[in-house]
Amino acid sequence: MKKTANILVLPGDGIGQEVMRQGLRVLTKASEIFQFDLSIEEDLIHGSAWKKFGTFCRDETVEIAKNSDGVLVGAVGQAGNENLPHSSDPEENDGLMRLRKELDVFAGLRPAIVNDALLDELPYRREVSNGVDIMVLREMCGGVMFAKPRGIEVLSTTEKRGYDTAAYTTFEIKRLAKVGFLLAGRRKKRVVSVDKSNVMESGFLWREVVQSVGDEFPDIELEHMYADNCSYQLAVNPSQFDVIISNNLFGDIISDQAGSLAGSLGMLPSASLPCLPNIGETCTAGIYEPVHGTAPDISGKNIANPVGMILSIALFIEYGLGGVEESAIVAKAVESTIANGIRTKDIGGQASSETITDAIISEISCV
Ligand code: IPM
Ligand code: MG
Repeated sequence: MKKTANILVLPGDGIGQEVMRQGLRVLTKASEIFQFDLSIEEDLIHGSAWKKFGTFCRDETVEIAKNSDGVLVGAVGQAGNENLPHSSDPEENDGLMRLRKELDVFAGLRPAIVNDALLDELPYRREVSNGVDIMVLREMCGGVMFAKPRGIEVLSTTEKRGYDTAAYTTFEIKRLAKVGFLLAGRRKKRVVSVDKSNVMESGFLWREVVQSVGDEFPDIELEHMYADNCSYQLAVNPSQFDVIISNNLFGDIISDQAGSLAGSLGMLPSASLPCLPNIGETCTAGIYEPVHGTAPDISGKNIANPVGMILSIALFIEYGLGGVEESAIVAKAVESTIANGIRTKDIGGQASSETITDAIISEISCV
């Protein structure tokens, strides 16, 4: 495991600030126990960066990010009622999108695991959610969220036309699919690839390329599934899934849906990586962030669930520092805390963000 963690911290907007505060407390404790040094730079992104610098993501921020072992992000988006500017360029329009593109973190790992202790708190019946352990692998740097042309054209005084392009190259699909099969090899050896190949050309190519990569992994079972059916299957029979490979847009939606299986979007972490390191090895400049948004309605109240952020830090310890066992200890501390009944409001408890973090820290300290 690396002995120094060079980190860029971007708390972002809304509850991003408060979940990051709690996440950093856990990271500090982890650094003491697992004996690594922390070298932290903090910066602004998106709404807060706009207010101070008039841009959503500065060049300096990108430079620091590129030289880091990992970037921790709280949440990015609308933090209140402010009117942020709009551009047709996604990288101009959203600080996080620029960072993802600049760091080329195409592989978005979004695990959704159902905690046994929450089985009676979940939106689904216990027999539906029981045993769910899904890795959504979302493509992060291409597809309809980035491809050009895109824009809004004026057709007449009363009519406009907004358009986007859904496009993927062989290269983009191949590199993602490869990560998916490698991940499945470390898990239950089952891949479901999601597309709309019945109605989309980019989806047709997606299926063809994923299949060709799958042919190189004969020990991994591959199933192709239409995105709408995948959404349905996630609700009725989620434990059939192991790794789900999907494009940027479907993966955005599916990972939120997977959050509902885990009880709350506040539970879900993510790691967006430029490659998948071998087990125990590292990749630099990944982005680690909870899947949830800025939740302006609860921001500043110390009630946001910090678990997604804390588990994202666990993913950083695994992939950014190479601490596989150390990462598992943090994840286990989260699991035990929830099993002990210490929960935030979104998962049926009364604990504040700070109280649940205190409990997680003391669980880590027991190691
Ligand atoms: C996510 C978010 C982002 C996305 C937004 C904030 C741009 O929803 O990380 O899932 O759409 O990718
Ligand atoms: Mg999303």
